[in-house]
Amino acid sequence: MATQQPFGGVDQMTAVVVAAAYARQSRLIDSGEARGWAATFTADGVFDSPSYPEPVIGTEALERFAREYADRARATGVVMRHVVSNLEALAGPDPARLMVLGYLQIVATPRGKDSRLVRFTTIEDDLVRDERAPSGWLIARRVVRRDDAGPEVVLRVGHRPALSFPNHTTAAPEDQEIAPHMSTVTSPAARSALNGSDHPGRVQGAPMEVVHPDLAGKVAVVTGAGRGMGARFAAALGRRGVHVVGADIDSELMSGTASALAEEIEQVAGAGEIVGTTVDVRDREAQQRLAELAVQRFGQIDLWINNAGIFPEAPAADIPVSQMQATLSINVEGVLYGAQAAASVMKPGSAIVNMASVAAVRVRRGRAAYCSSKAAVAHLTECLAVEFGDLGIRVNAIAPGFVDTEMTRWVQDDPEALARALDSVPLHRLGSPEEIVGPMLFLLSESARYVTGHILAVDAGSRHV
Ligand SMILES: NC(=O)c1ccc[n+]([C@@H]2O[C@H](COP(=O)([O-])OP(=O)(O)OC[C@H]3O[C@@H](n4cnc5c(N)ncnc54)[C@H](O)[C@@H]3O)[C@@H](O)[C@H]2O)c1
Repeated sequence: MATQQPFGGVDQMTAVVVAAAYARQSRLIDSGEARGWAATFTADGVFDSPSYPEPVIGTEALERFAREYADRARATGVVMRHVVSNLEALAGPDPARLMVLGYLQIVATPRGKDSRLVRFTTIEDDLVRDERAPSGWLIARRVVRRDDAGPEVVLRVGHRPALSFPNHTTAAPEDQEIAPHMSTVTSPAARSALNGSDHPGRVQGAPMEVVHPDLAGKVAVVTGAGRGMGARFAAALGRRGVHVVGADIDSELMSGTASALAEEIEQVAGAGEIVGTTVDVRDREAQQRLAELAVQRFGQIDLWINNAGIFPEAPAADIPVSQMQATLSINVEGVLYGAQAAASVMKPGSAIVNMASVAAVRVRRGRAAYCSSKAAVAHLTECLAVEFGDLGIRVNAIAPGFVDTEMTRWVQDDPEALARALDSVPLHRLGSPEEIVGPMLFLLSESARYVTGHILAVDAGSRHV
């Protein structure tokens, strides 16, 4: 029981607990667990950093801040790692308070590029005792001080020692895109599938090396490209030399994502251009204008992905009219109007892919509006394939299972729901957006030139459970 040895003014046990709490906090922010990260602060906790115009105060604002941070990283495909080191806990006269000093370094790793040390700062935290916190301490105030304004330090990919900061708390690069929720899985089958860092049951986010040289020089429109799968489709196409118009109802999100994606692929030889614009897919005229914009900008449209969608929840008995109308108009009418706009300018040999879902064939409690809308998308795809076949345009759909995006955040934030969800996935894990990219490229490419009216399930077998 060596609890009384001093360590920076506190007993050893407190020092160890504090170090573990900081390691956990880094993991929470890096893995997008916004609520968990915000909960490491008191209800009126303050986060004050020179990188942001004003302090972030209170649980709600802290959670929003962390979520936006994670969204930005996800949208750009950059993996961020917070590394805390040189921690020193200092006890004051009040046993219920601590001051913690340390270094905070942030390492950014864009896909396929060198890691960069983008921040090297000092943190000065005031902690207060709170028995409800896992560590027994909460941060009442964090003040971040920028120590260097020098050039970013580049950390070469594969050069591990550069990441070995003292006390560093981050995941190894190959773990980088493992879904944050995995430690909360309660189902024995799911949990056993997740044990071991190299077990195939873990979410696998690494991009697939699928080439499809035939796509280069084509022009694509992707709706709902502001984040999630739409953003990854746009990046994958751009990387393969396709010019992409990404469109989303959230114009700010779309414009940030388009710039980030353009930056992500700028070093790729022969990459296409990616531009962002605004569209509300419910609006038929707006989808027509989207098609015109793509033609004006790039001269033609060869590929169109109807990806935008919403995933509302309500018990079937209580679904409000507004929810049903919104779901059908975004998820179903949006696909029809997109396909009409595409077909009005496409030449024979072009391809449309719609995003259906495993929910088209499996019932999901509380999601009747969504399930019925995706069933409609699946059948609409078949109808369009038959009629657009006359124009030489192929129309297919992808029916993903549970994919790790903001849309499934509810499941990731709720251990019981996650365990239930994974029990209905034969491979016992969520899919990553990158795992939908490969099948998407296949359907868009020459490899699928004799495939139309097909609903391709990419769901780890969950449609059978
Ligand atoms: N994530 C999954 O597990 C999953 C599973 C099966 C199917 N899908 C389907 O895949 C598609 C993409 O899902 P995601 O998980 O990337 O979702 P997401 O919520 O991360 O992204 C959807 C995007 O669509 C945009 N959008 C919403 N309404 C719009 C509108 N009216 N006009 C234009 N844009 C609009 C949103 O702003 C958002 O950027 C959706 O159609 C979804 O139903 C997702």
